[in-house]
Amino acid sequence: MCGGAGFIGSHFVRQRTREHGDEVAVLDKLTYAGREENLRDLAGAPGYRFIHGAIEDPDAVAAAIDGCDAVVNFAAETHVDRSISGPEVFLTTQMNGTWTLLEAARERELRYVQVSTDEVYGSIEEGSFTESSPLDPSSPYSATKAGADLLVSSYAHTYDLETVICRGSNNYGPFQYPEKLIPLMVLNALHGDALPVYGDGMQVRNWLYVEDFAGGIGHALAYGAPGEAYNVGGPDECPNIDVVRRIIALTGRDESLIEYVTDRPGHDRRYSLGWEKIRALGWTAQVRFEAGLERTAAWYRDNAWWWEPIRSGEYRAYYERHYGRALG
Ligand code: NAD
Ligand code: DAU
Repeated sequence: MCGGAGFIGSHFVRQRTREHGDEVAVLDKLTYAGREENLRDLAGAPGYRFIHGAIEDPDAVAAAIDGCDAVVNFAAETHVDRSISGPEVFLTTQMNGTWTLLEAARERELRYVQVSTDEVYGSIEEGSFTESSPLDPSSPYSATKAGADLLVSSYAHTYDLETVICRGSNNYGPFQYPEKLIPLMVLNALHGDALPVYGDGMQVRNWLYVEDFAGGIGHALAYGAPGEAYNVGGPDECPNIDVVRRIIALTGRDESLIEYVTDRPGHDRRYSLGWEKIRALGWTAQVRFEAGLERTAAWYRDNAWWWEPIRSGEYRAYYERHYGRALG
């Protein structure tokens, strides 16, 4: 499991060890987004081991992969805004890292699952993308994710490697780094800080609760057909400004906190996934947005131990650089 100390990866590791009894080796570089605290409840658990290293480092990969039956790759640089201000590391991790893992899986004939994103299809005004929609990414983040998907498919086609790709829509839930819309707005609202909405706030995202995505990936790991891609979409779409208003209501604040700021360059207007193909395998999302958002806001309110070190560390400098104002 690569990238298991991140947001979605940590939920997946917990599900696999607790609910499926799997033995899991986590390989993670511990970037700013990777935090061992995300897995602190698993430390010392039987069948769980952690290896600190990068997926682009063949020695680290070899150390982690011995004894494994499958590779599930979550490891990535994941924030679109950071890919715009500094794309280089996105190429290293997404391209060199994925290639290094594919080579290691090929050598050992392992099943390989690539965790990907709806952003590889680009923006869609109406309707939803299917797995056969063309890849048309817009940002350095989504372009490197699309590049990694193509590389994965080439290993299935050329070397008969047993690969599966899972393309998820926007995830939310506990342990998400507060550079992303929902945790950023929840924590800013709890602190009485401004809520920075890009552009007109009418961009639409297709929200998927993190445990549902983790379950979908597990489902594809078990039942996905070799060489295939599966969209794992959320049950609800919502414009950003409505997400922010719901968070204001959940945190007892008012709309005076909303601040419209300069739009993200090349900002995708709407994402939407059709997920009939994975539904046909027996997976379906369980958590609707209203309930999931309430659960998420409550988790951030009750888990200051997790976010306090983030809000007092490098994140403050990132925030100031990106938004041109200090956190309160
Ligand atoms: P995250 O940023 O929270 O975590 C990424 C993890 O990968 C971190 O633990 C980090 O340390 C690790 N990592 C980064 N570069 C690495 C490298 N070179 N070698 C080893 N480890 C490295 O990300 P997330 O939101 O949990 O996303 C996980 C995966 O799911 C990514 O591949 C992302 O593209 C995909 N995805 C995310 C979403 C979403 O809404 N967050 C939606 C669909 C798909
Ligand atoms: O769609 C899946 C993707 O979702 C994943 O592949 C990415 O890894 C993940 O970061 C996410 O990308 P987005 O760009 O959609 O997520 P983000 O949380 O950065 O932004 C969600 C929307 O909110 C987007 O339209 C931009 C807007 N936004 C974001 C921030 C951080 C704001 O209006 N203000 C903000 O401060």
